[in-house]
Formats: sequence, C-alpha cells, structure tokens
Amino acid sequence: MEQKLFGAVDDYISLLFNGHDEVLAATEQSIIDSGIPQISVSPNQGKLLNLLAQLSKAEKILELGTLAGYSTIWMARALPVTGKLISLEYDPKHAAVAQKNIARAGLNKVVDIRIGKGLDLLPKLVAEGAGPFDMIFIDADKPPYAEYFEWALKLSRPGTLIIADNVIRSGKVLDENHTDEMVTGVQRFNKALAASKAVTATIIQTIGAKEHDGIALAIVK
Ligand code: SAH
Ligand code: DHB
Ligand code: MG
Repeated sequence: MEQKLFGAVDDYISLLFNGHDEVLAATEQSIIDSGIPQISVSPNQGKLLNLLAQLSKAEKILELGTLAGYSTIWMARALPVTGKLISLEYDPKHAAVAQKNIARAGLNKVVDIRIGKGLDLLPKLVAEGAGPFDMIFIDADKPPYAEYFEWALKLSRPGTLIIADNVIRSGKVLDENHTDEMVTGVQRFNKALAASKAVTATIIQTIGAKEHDGIALAIVK
C-alpha cells in the first residue's frame, strides 16, 4: 500500500523534473531486452547523482558497478566535454550492453568501461595514477564494500565526494545477526565509514520506485 504511494510520488517527481528522456528510456529497455537484473538506480536517484556531480564540479568520476550504464549516463552528463568517467564492471555481458547505451548517449569519449573484478582493477587504477577522482560512486557487489571504500580513499583528494548505494537494504542493516553477505557487507562498510577519520559522512534513506534503501555520502577531509 505505502510502497505504491511512494512509487507514485517518485513518478510524479521524475515526470516533473526529468520529463521523458529517449536515451535513458532506451537504456531501461535494453536491460529488459537483454535479461540483465533491473537494479539500476531510480530516475530520481540518477538525477541526484547528476546534481552531486555538478556540485562537486567533477571532471573525473569513478564508478564501481556499471550494469547497463544507467547511473553512468546520469553522472557523465554532468561532466565537461573534457571530463572522464571510469566505470568498473565484472560481467562482460553487462559491459557490452552498457557500451551500446553509452554510445547512444553520445558519451563514448567521456566514459571508459573497464572489465574485471573491482578488487583487481582498483590497484591498477592506483598504479597508473588514474586518480584523484572528484567523485566516486560505489555500487558493485556488496560484500567487499568496506574494501572498496579503502581503495576509494587511495584514489581521492581532500574534497572528493564518495557515494555508496544500497547501504540500508530495507532496514536489514539493523539486524546484527544477519547472515546474508549482501547485508553484512554493507553493515561492515557503514561502520567503517562512520569510524573513518578520513571522511565526514552520513546516510540518507531512500524510498520510492525502488525498495526502501539508503545512499551513503562522504566527503574526504
Ligand atoms: N550502477 C548501476 C547498477 C550497478 S548493479 C546503475 O545504477 O545503473 C551492480 C553491478 O556490479 C552489476 O552489473 C554487477 O555485474 C557488477 N559487479 C558485481 N560484482 C562485481 C565486481 N566484483 N567488480 C565489479 N563489478 C561487479
Ligand atoms: C542489488 C544491487 C544494487 O546495486 C541495487 O541497487 C539493488 C540491488 C542487488 O544486488 O540485489
Ligand atoms: Mg545499487
């Protein structure tokens, strides 16, 4: 009942502020057509990422977890033409779908998708001196979120905005005895984020088109 209302209000906001967008609609359709999981950020969350990228005056963005490139497109659109967004994706099938969507969005020159496991690719980014990034969006597999945060810090500078999706999981994070790695991974991340002296951070819980969840926001000191 309430979920229906939250979804309807989310649609209302999205229609008001985002309108219809051919490129994003085609991206959403590509997810259905290729049978990949429908777990992109919602339209309003995408818009929020875009606003945050603008607020950060981002010229270099790092994303962990590309899927079909939906969040990638929202963030990359906030970049100047000379900007760069590197997105890490483990599944080559997801990366191939994303590449097409990014081409359709006219963002081929801006977006660089790297295929592999986040924990293998992140040290390479450090080694090649790819950082520091102005904004980092963590949205890949949940068990190593705390490790992703450590790597994100290595690729940051003071002022870098680190964002992490899915850190509340319908409130499952409240259960200290949860055994699901998706939950324990974000619990570990949330604790590490709160305890870190390297950042100042908070979490906003989110409701709407997607299930109740949360997005962590952290600024590197
Ligand atoms: N950011 C996307 C959604 C990402 S879903 C959006 O909002 O549009 C999570 C993605 O992380 C999936 O595509 C999954 O294949 C990828 N993934 C899973 N394990 C990974 C790993 N170890 N390294 C990098 N990506 C991974
Ligand atoms: C899942 C992953 C996500 O990034 C998300 O936004 C929602 C769900 C998942 O793996 O279940
Ligand atoms: Mg997510």
